[in-house]
Amino acid sequence: MESRRFLITGGSQGIGAALVEAARADDDQVVFTGRNHDLIEELAGRTGAVGIAADVAVAEDNARTVTEAVDRMGGIDVLVNNAGWGYGAPIGELDVDRMRQLFDTNVFGLVDLTNRVVPLMKEQGGGDIVNIASTSGIKGHPNGTAYSASKWAVRGISQCWQAELRPHDIRVISVCPSEVQTNWGGRSGRNNPNKLFAPDIAEVVMAALGADRRALWPEVSVFATNPWKEPEG
Ligand SMILES: NC(=O)c1ccc[n+]([C@@H]2O[C@H](COP(=O)([O-])OP(=O)(O)OC[C@H]3O[C@@H](n4cnc5c(N)ncnc54)[C@H](OP(=O)(O)O)[C@@H]3O)[C@@H](O)[C@H]2O)c1
Repeated sequence: MESRRFLITGGSQGIGAALVEAARADDDQVVFTGRNHDLIEELAGRTGAVGIAADVAVAEDNARTVTEAVDRMGGIDVLVNNAGWGYGAPIGELDVDRMRQLFDTNVFGLVDLTNRVVPLMKEQGGGDIVNIASTSGIKGHPNGTAYSASKWAVRGISQCWQAELRPHDIRVISVCPSEVQTNWGGRSGRNNPNKLFAPDIAEVVMAALGADRRALWPEVSVFATNPWKEPEG
């Protein structure tokens, strides 16, 4: 397969970092973003990917990210909108300003960056956009007003972009992971062998991207087979 040019947001750790590693293992070129300088440096040094400190919620950072990605790689074949964070609170106690901040990253940042990349992809005659949504965007749950709503929005936006961009040979793939044992919400150290790990999601994304360009996987959910099973040993 020909080497592809990836731009991955939130690649400094978790699912994004697993994707950086999977793409580099496939000999693809990768530019990734994040905010934690130490993590960015470590992953870039280890994989040969290019890491950029950039906040997806900041428009100027998104402009700089796209310019740098194009300067480094000559174009963008795959945009992975992965950067995101969570905030949970019951309705009646919700901090609406915090919900707005969450939307600035999970929704408006994703839209702003894609808005800048799509013209390039149209000019190139195609591309792939992967939006990391969540099973929280398929089924609501207690304390999920802000996060769940942001991921429902990502799924809805993905459907709009599919309708708009299929005629331009741009595939839009929405991926909905269930619980993944990353540093999500500061919950580091989880290591249950029966629950999902970041590379499980990276594998699914790479499989969707690896399908013949005739084939579009519009949405894929990823669950653990039996997360209730007690770890052995
Ligand atoms: N873990 C789960 O159970 C789960 C389930 C379903 C969906 N997801 C989704 O998967 C995606 C990745 O989550 P994860 O589990 O890998 O979480 P994680 O380990 O906390 O990693 C989140 C990544 O996003 C980056 N990030 C967050 N806000 C950012 C911003 N404003 N600008 C740039 N980068 C930003 C972080 O960068 P820095 O650390 O450098 O700031 C980090 O690299 C998120 O969209 C999340 O909603 C996760």
